[in-house]
Formats: sequence, C-alpha cells, structure tokens
Amino acid sequence: KRIVILISGRGSNMEAIVRACAAEGWPAQIAAVISNKPDAAGLNFAAAHGIATAVVDHKAFRQPGMDAQQAREAFDAELQRVIDGFAPDLVVLAGFMRILTPAFTAHYAERMLNIHPSLLPAFTGLHTHARALEMGCKFVGATVHFVTAELDHGAIVAQAVAPVLPGDDEDTLSARVLKLEHRMYPQAVRWFVEGQLRLVDGRVEQLSGAS
Ligand code: GRF
Repeated sequence: KRIVILISGRGSNMEAIVRACAAEGWPAQIAAVISNKPDAAGLNFAAAHGIATAVVDHKAFRQPGMDAQQAREAFDAELQRVIDGFAPDLVVLAGFMRILTPAFTAHYAERMLNIHPSLLPAFTGLHTHARALEMGCKFVGATVHFVTAELDHGAIVAQAVAPVLPGDDEDTLSARVLKLEHRMYPQAVRWFVEGQLRLVDGRVEQLSGAS
C-alpha cells in the first residue's frame, strides 16, 4: 500500500508513522510527504529519510479577482493533482491545517484519515485543549477518523484518553495528548494498510486479528 502524508508544520505524527512503518515492517511505504507550507519542519525529517517531498503553497492560489472559495478550490485541485501523482492508497492528514473542499474529500472518500486533538464529537475546530480546560473537562484526548466534507466529522477509527490534572495548562495538556497521538495514529494507519478497517453504515468496524 502507498501512503501520502500531508503536513503543515512540525510533523511529529508523520514522524511517528514513518518510524512505525519501517520498524514494524508494514505492507506499506510512505510514498510522499506534502506540505502547504514551504517551511514546515517536518519536510526536513522526510527528506532526510529518503521520502519524496512536495510543497503546494496555498498562498500562491490567491489571485486577483478570485474570492476565497475559488482560491480554495484551485488549491485543492492542485493538491489533488500532486497527491495523485504518487498514486496513494491512503492519504494521511497529520497536522494539515487547511479546510478541504467537498470535491477533494469526496475524491479520497474512505481512504483519507485525520487526527484531531479532542474526543470527537466534542471540540471540533481549533484550540481544543484550551476549550476543554475552560469547560472544566476531567478528560481530554485525541481521535483518528475518516475524513468527510464536514470538518472533524467522519467515522471514528480510534480514540485515546488522557486525564486533566491539577495545574494543567494548554501546553501540559497538549504534550500529554500528543504522546498518545504518536502511539494511536501509527496503529490506526497500520490497521488501514492491513485491511482491518471496514465502513459499515457510516461507522468503522474493525475486523478480528487486529493488534
Ligand atoms: C496534533 O496535535 C494533531 O492532533 C493536530 O495538529 C497537531 C499536529 O502536530 N491535528 P504534528 O505536526 O504532528 O507534530
């Protein structure tokens, strides 16, 4: 199976997936790492590991006379063209900070995963940990889900939970959750490439034999 990973920055989840794929001998290869930001730190890690990299800079798609929606559609069309050049079976969003158009999400239906730092369906969108603290949540977490047109929706593949401890702030919480993300996301991607995930009535069923 061929995997293309999309990032926008640090890329620590991408790194965890690259390492697990190699260390655990998945029936898969990371075909490319693509960023919408030319300076995304994760691109260096990917290149250093011999993985093809590409940049599709969303800022280049804002032409005079275009409205925001047209620019978004032009960006997504180019991104799709670049991704499909690597012929992926699976597209993995790992800290990819762009809202995607329905045409793009439909093109990768049932073969695109995302990780979101909350226990969905709670706290879609940004600043999840700050909002959880403000609400007095006792537990937070992260969710791996299939990507659909609606932001941070789509069938849930895996979730991990962390406690909120006295004195926590956004940084301590996100660090605690990120550690869980680095275990959970590679595991979920592995399930996909091993053919263990099935969508039934919009929910994920995991076939037996899952590790
Ligand atoms: C992670 O917290 C992920 O859940 C969220 O963005 C962050 C990306 O971090 N979607 P990294 O780029 O993988 O280090």
